[in-house]
Amino acid sequence: MNILLTGGTGYIGSHTAVVLSQAGHEVVLLDNFCNSSPSVLERLEKILGKALPCIEADVRETDVVEKVLREYKIDAVIHFAGLKAVSESVANPVLYYANNVQGSISLLQAMQEVDVKTLVFSSSATVYGEPQYLPYDEDHPTKPMNPYGQSKLQVEEILRDLAASDSKWRITSLRYFNPVGAHESGLIGEEPNGIPNNLMPYVVKVASGELPHLNIFGDDYETLDGTGERDYIHVMDLAEGHMAALHFQNVNAGSNVVNLGTGKSSGVLEIVKAFENITGKVIPLQFAPRRAGDLPIYFAQTGLAKEQLHWVAKRNLIEMCESSWKFQELQGHVKGESEN
Ligand code: NAD
Ligand code: WQD
Repeated sequence: MNILLTGGTGYIGSHTAVVLSQAGHEVVLLDNFCNSSPSVLERLEKILGKALPCIEADVRETDVVEKVLREYKIDAVIHFAGLKAVSESVANPVLYYANNVQGSISLLQAMQEVDVKTLVFSSSATVYGEPQYLPYDEDHPTKPMNPYGQSKLQVEEILRDLAASDSKWRITSLRYFNPVGAHESGLIGEEPNGIPNNLMPYVVKVASGELPHLNIFGDDYETLDGTGERDYIHVMDLAEGHMAALHFQNVNAGSNVVNLGTGKSSGVLEIVKAFENITGKVIPLQFAPRRAGDLPIYFAQTGLAKEQLHWVAKRNLIEMCESSWKFQELQGHVKGESEN
């Protein structure tokens, strides 16, 4: 298949590009590089032994997207392009709706024009909001707690209406839990700009000496060790989940929503311990107040992904920590080593 990945040079997009390309698909990337670097392309070339075509454009440039769909005879699109920082979405909701909702509408307009009607959409577990029960299954009520989550839910709803309007559409919204880790080569991984918001990239920067200590946001939750628990999923498992969704769509029309998680949750201290064991580094810790908007615990019901997509997450916490660290080391960011 010829597959277009919007946001394809980003964290999850680049790993999915590897999985799809190595499975024999023709992969085309489109990105405006607002949260990624063109150097990802060279690193993808190293992993794959060939260059992937990449178009520098914003998904809101409908005519450019339309041209790309025609020129590369695209069969399916995976729509990763979007902004994802929760606190930024609270501070600047218009930016988030413009990028995530307007961007998706622009893509759909281009796809409709060219009659490309197979789409996988990057949604998020954040659409569920406060758990009424756990694990979250796909029928759990949705009530996002911030504009970022709301933007994801709005797009899911547009996609549902679209599939209902035309039976040729094949659409899967994948609700990711907490993606972490990196490709085994250590060449691509998560590269947040500035000080990371998310736990794993923050831990990596503390281990490498770039940040002095980890703040643990809350130690009095009703969880096993009092810290927040999340369903961390290896980014390569997540990438494989996209290929599984495309395979499912080849034989099933209509729209579909599927969780991609492991079904297990880990606390902050468990992550820190696993990371310390693997790296031999000590992660200095400070307990801090709970972070506004954080939930105590959530994790995925994974039955639907297994039943429909024939996909399960295979990689464990150790592999998540090992690959994150390898990526960090290869980037030459480890304090001291570069100075020696
Ligand atoms: P990322 O920021 O690394 O990748 C997104 C890519 O999209 C970046 O390369 C960015 O430059 C590009 N982009 C953003 N807006 C664009 C636009 N208007 N036009 C063209 N390119 C644009 O993020 P990621 O972690 O790879 O996330 C990919 C998708 O998955 C996002 O939609 C995100 O909301 C969703 N998601 C991510 C997580 C997570 O924790 N990483 C969890 C759930 C869902
Ligand atoms: C995990 C746990 C924190 C940093 C976010 C988005 C979500 C989704 C995934 C896109 C929590 C604790 C964190 C730190 C800490 N993204 N923590 N110290 O908040 O579960 O999910 O990313 O869709 O929408 O909200 O992930 O990695 O920020 O936090 O103690 O410096 O680690 O309190 O319990 P989160 P996270």
